[in-house]
Amino acid sequence: MQVIIKRLKADKKTIGFVPTMGALHKGHSSLIRRSCKDNDITVVSIFVNPVQFGPDEDFRRYPRPLNNDISLCEKAGVDFIFYPSVSGMYAAGFKTYVYVEELSNLLCGKSRPGHFQGVATVVAKLFNIVRPDSAYFGQKDAQQVVIIKRMAVDLNIPVKIRVIPTVRERGGLALSSRNLYLSREERKDALVLSESLRLAKKLAVSGARNAAGIISAMKRLISSKKSTRIDYVAVVDPDNLKPVKRISDGCLTAVAVWIGKTRLIDNICLRY
Ligand code: PAJ
Repeated sequence: MQVIIKRLKADKKTIGFVPTMGALHKGHSSLIRRSCKDNDITVVSIFVNPVQFGPDEDFRRYPRPLNNDISLCEKAGVDFIFYPSVSGMYAAGFKTYVYVEELSNLLCGKSRPGHFQGVATVVAKLFNIVRPDSAYFGQKDAQQVVIIKRMAVDLNIPVKIRVIPTVRERGGLALSSRNLYLSREERKDALVLSESLRLAKKLAVSGARNAAGIISAMKRLISSKKSTRIDYVAVVDPDNLKPVKRISDGCLTAVAVWIGKTRLIDNICLRY
């Protein structure tokens, strides 16, 4: 990959990069399409990164439908798929991690210790390998975006981070590779994540400004579904991810909810 990139750079090609863990869906293809539109060359990485999974998480059973992923990439116009092995990315003796303080310990970081250190580490490595002009991330993983932006600035990585809106199913469910784990019943219950975000928006539009009030209305709605267990419901400042008491235009409302054994996340920016 590094040899190819060197050649492309010598030819003055602009490089767009879409890091993924595979099991690609229309959310990923929307990032890819945008990259193809903006750049001469688009590189997609497919790598289920072991260091961002906790010991009890789904690393082993994470879906890996490589052939589907390759044909989705081909259809979307991807120029290169970077598909490294675990031992290629983490050779024996690997010792260096990237840790973005504070931001990594809030929201999803609380229930997934080490997760964002794993994400920041692999994305830093991928940026060093691919050396993209622009890299594309989904708003669906809002905390990931904040952390990667911080990391790129702090480590002087010359990449533009582009954030692409969340792609949803018709009923509102945000597309996610983990939706594959849901049973039919659970899939219905999972609609409550986006419903709760729409409720937050409705309350804000109708004048509610107290974050605690909005959060408890959302929690009541989510808890009304049988298979749900709330990890967090939060209204936070979109730049530093700290909770806000009074909501202001553009603040981030984020939820993480277990649906049976599957943990799903979603968020919206509250605009009113
Ligand atoms: P993965 O979950 O495969 O997601 C890859 C990219 O697709 C992320 O930027 C994510 O936000 C985006 N994405 C996922 N679902 C989306 C949706 N419904 N709409 C829009 N974008 C969506 O996020 C990761 O992989 C990993 O943490 C990674 C950054 C690759 C590091 O290992």
